[in-house]
Amino acid sequence: MKVLRSPKIFQALMDRERGRARTLGFVPTMGALHEGHASLVRRAKKENDLAAVSIFVNPLQFGPKEDFSRYPRTLAADMAVLRKAGADYLFVPKAEDFYPQGFQTSVRVGREGVSGLTRGLCASARPGHFEGVATVVTKLLNLSKAHRAYFGAKDFQQAALIERLVEDLSLDIQIRVCPTVREADGLAMSSRNRYLNSEERSRALALPRALSALKRALEEGRPLGKTLRSARRSLEAGADRVDYLEIVDPGTLEPLKRPRALMTAAAACRFGKTRLIDNVSIRISQTRRK
Ligand code: PAF
Repeated sequence: MKVLRSPKIFQALMDRERGRARTLGFVPTMGALHEGHASLVRRAKKENDLAAVSIFVNPLQFGPKEDFSRYPRTLAADMAVLRKAGADYLFVPKAEDFYPQGFQTSVRVGREGVSGLTRGLCASARPGHFEGVATVVTKLLNLSKAHRAYFGAKDFQQAALIERLVEDLSLDIQIRVCPTVREADGLAMSSRNRYLNSEERSRALALPRALSALKRALEEGRPLGKTLRSARRSLEAGADRVDYLEIVDPGTLEPLKRPRALMTAAAACRFGKTRLIDNVSIRISQTRRK
């Protein structure tokens, strides 16, 4: 695996690989890698000749009171994960090279008067977060020159926003959203799980449990409003704070009042100081919609 620090050299190398008619899969990450990331790299490698990964803890997507400075930085362990998963290139830029002095461009998804992907759900608790994500991802995709880029479905709102921006800006890359990888007990893998102490770790199961109970009940034809209220109560009993638990349209992310054939239940809540997110897809047949 070749490790590159300079954005210009990374872009030139990727350009050279493309010129040799090699297909490139790209996995942007912030490091602290786990099996979820490894699964993205394996898929990138399976669907392309080469897999490139970036590790960059993007300051633009953290609010002033968030965990930017304590976000885990575990480069040596990450490199071992990436070698095992078959990555060919690792791009690890320094912030000052990635956002050099004078950098002042921002990418914002969502317009006044157009229902926004960046209005509800995580956007309410994390102002500015998605603008930071859209900006870094646009720049990373441009640098990577990749044919395909891979993102996890756990970051459901992020994935919807990236699909939108790639479409809206006609970026020449295919976005693949890959299934959430879970621990054996159901907790979605996340770099932030390592912040949890053992008491918080066991309470954190309230999150996947509330979502799967919600999915089961709606797929059995129970009414949406009542089912959602009861799932919220059970999540509130386990979490220290619930930022949201919503059933939304997976395309527009608008909250739903009546069931549809395809919906997403998404939640964010805190256990101690750790904020976790998760979501599940729900499919129901016409006869069961109430
Ligand atoms: O999902 C992440 O790890 C980050 O938001 C991403 C996409 C790498 C952008 O910094």
